[in-house]
Amino acid sequence: MAGDGLEGRRILVHVCGGIAAVKAPELITGLRKEGAEVRVVMTAAATAFVAPLALQALSGHPVAHPGRGAAVDEAGMPHIDLSAWADCHLVAPATATTIARLAVGLADDLVSATLLATRAPVLLAPAMETGMWENPATQANLGKLRSRGLHLVGPLSGRLASGREGMGRMAEPAQLLEAARLLVEPRRELAGVGVLVTAGGTREPIDPVRYLGNRSSGRMGLELARAAQRRGATVHLVTCAELDGSPVGVEVVTVETAQEMLAACRELIPEVSLLLMAAAVADYRMAHPSAQKMHRSEHPTLELELVANVDVLGELVAERPAACKVVGFAAETEDFRRRGREKLAAKGCDLLVANPVSGEHSAMGGEEAEAVVLYPDGREVELPYAPKSLIAGRILDLAAGLLDQSRGAPGAG
Ligand code: CTP
Repeated sequence: MAGDGLEGRRILVHVCGGIAAVKAPELITGLRKEGAEVRVVMTAAATAFVAPLALQALSGHPVAHPGRGAAVDEAGMPHIDLSAWADCHLVAPATATTIARLAVGLADDLVSATLLATRAPVLLAPAMETGMWENPATQANLGKLRSRGLHLVGPLSGRLASGREGMGRMAEPAQLLEAARLLVEPRRELAGVGVLVTAGGTREPIDPVRYLGNRSSGRMGLELARAAQRRGATVHLVTCAELDGSPVGVEVVTVETAQEMLAACRELIPEVSLLLMAAAVADYRMAHPSAQKMHRSEHPTLELELVANVDVLGELVAERPAACKVVGFAAETEDFRRRGREKLAAKGCDLLVANPVSGEHSAMGGEEAEAVVLYPDGREVELPYAPKSLIAGRILDLAAGLLDQSRGAPGAG
């Protein structure tokens, strides 16, 4: 089963001859980390910047380049086969020469011939010196390509190969990954479904400048929101974390405390069929937060009186519409499976995602996580250590399965 945006997707990376070709290894590695199958085509000039053998090792497939002939594997795979194979093409870097070739419709090397033959989406990541970029010839060529439906990402302004500053740096591999995710055919299994995601660690004020918080980065919640959006859902994200790039089209409500999170979620819960409660809610808050900044000179020692916080998930489970499914999360430093099971039962969730947060595979604050998804009937699904974007995609697939069951169940409304 295909998982998240790039999982199982076939991406053909076209590497052209410019210094930004040295970023191809990072791009290919990033695509494969997200589960894409990657093949590589290079122009002759590109092979002077990065070795085909390196890209072969990273992509896991022989690389097509003029020194090797048109074949991509031993059976031979000319431009027509390659263009039919690809779900999406990334041209990175797209040099002024290749852009000109594409604009004219030339097919005199494997890159241009494959791109001329394809019906799949094409993403160009231009990279060149500022003068070449600004030249009316280049801009006219790009205008033609845009009007034919090719997509562009970048270039960026910054330090160029010449050492000068200016427009023309290739977009960063992370931006290319994001653009590729949007380009590959979107999955629509959550089309029309309202999804509410909570993210980040709540901040409970001690005084106007200090708070009680935790190490949650909000990354899992953000990835869940992205994964839901890519499946066509209408997504609301209630977050305590300052997010690094909130997904376009997701409605974001920023809150600080557990009480504020509950209030924001209460407004949204009637509209959604799925609640993904990934926030790390502080268990305690100050009984009496200080209205003024506290000073050490006035408090040589300090005792804070804390009271138990509202259980946001518990309240929402009790108040949710009957058809709304709820996924809880539990980050545990020990015995995460057993504790996760106890919380699943105690909180009345339909699924619970338990993560270990100690040791080298800690999910807290990092880019990667491992988890086990627990069902009330005793079933368990292991999600091995992987980038949070992939883990989020798997969780969404499992959560979507809950909705299918309730839609398909006799008498379900
Ligand atoms: N949660 C919540 N409100 C709280 C505490 C937790 O909504 N005050 C939610 C979390 O978002 C998560 C789930 O409950 O989805 C489990 O959170 P966790 O902190 O692991 O559990 P606690 O209820 O705090 O239990 P304990 O302190 O005993 O570990």
